[in-house]
Amino acid sequence: MITVHLKERSYQIIAGSGVLASLGRRCAAADLGSDAFCVTDPFVKARYGKIISSSLSRAGLASTFFVAPSGEKSKSFDECRCLLEALARFDKNKRVFVVAAGGGVVGDLAGFCAAVYKRGVAYVQVPTTLLAQVDSSIGGKTAIDLKHGKNLVGAFFQPKLVLSDVSLLASLNRRQFASGMAETVKYGVISDPRLFGLLERKAGTLQSGASRELVPIIAACSRIKAGIVEKDERDETGKRIILNFGHTLGHALEAAHGYGGYTHGEAVAIGMACACDLSRRLGLLDAESAGRIERLLTSFGLPVKMRPVAFRAIAEPYLRDKKFKGKSRFVLLSKIGSPRVVEDVPLSLVREVVASRMV
Ligand code: GLY
Repeated sequence: MITVHLKERSYQIIAGSGVLASLGRRCAAADLGSDAFCVTDPFVKARYGKIISSSLSRAGLASTFFVAPSGEKSKSFDECRCLLEALARFDKNKRVFVVAAGGGVVGDLAGFCAAVYKRGVAYVQVPTTLLAQVDSSIGGKTAIDLKHGKNLVGAFFQPKLVLSDVSLLASLNRRQFASGMAETVKYGVISDPRLFGLLERKAGTLQSGASRELVPIIAACSRIKAGIVEKDERDETGKRIILNFGHTLGHALEAAHGYGGYTHGEAVAIGMACACDLSRRLGLLDAESAGRIERLLTSFGLPVKMRPVAFRAIAEPYLRDKKFKGKSRFVLLSKIGSPRVVEDVPLSLVREVVASRMV
């Protein structure tokens, strides 16, 4: 069990195998309300809906499901309005709370709606993808998209509990699994050489599914994310920026290739390889460390080279990234476990690195 220490907004992250069955008991113990409004997607509902509703009912809690279509398109005003209206219809006893059971899209949509419904009702994150378990379920950033960009309408709103059940990962396909592993590699690289070493040792066996060996890895990543969020809950002190390692070009690549072209983790893996190249070219990082990072990424089946795309298409969204504030700021690396924020990286250098990473 990991605690995210944020004064009265503190909460626990429970990572384990089979912990979903304890959802109802934990919600009841935390006194979140009597009526659980469960937001999910069609796949998660079909596969885990029964476990969720039985667990809630065993604890004496009423529940209903709101099933949002799979994919980023659900992070929209239309879906948000449908959800809020269904939530208001269900909220007869005025004791409603929200359960977000799904990947990052469900977590962001449900978390945002929980933040704005009646100016905030309690919500619980039940992340069902590896990516969501190690990253998006923790930290309290919730958002929906505008056509001008992703996550442009949002709120900081912490969950009351995060329940990460590794057994749910059995249903992930290889690409989804690898996408989550990209974020675990990122945590090792930015913060924890021991985690990085563990991932190197386990890479041969950890290729998919719901292995219990993932539990300490998910716990380590959650602890790192929690520690960073504790220091910079609202993204104000600059501490959260290191979580962006590989994401500056990663986000740009996702946008340039069209969402769905690369998974988030694949784009971040390429972004991390580029960040290592930039670090090397600026004389910050040694060749051996850069090689280890690239090998670890490829051992999880992640790409480190990108399909050709016009540099303009990459540079444009990256320069518009809301974290940029007009400066070409990159999270780079001086060694594994030691990130470094570098301002004013010349665009010409970024262009060279990107060109050398095209297949
Ligand atoms: N919800 C993701 C974050 O706060 O980073």
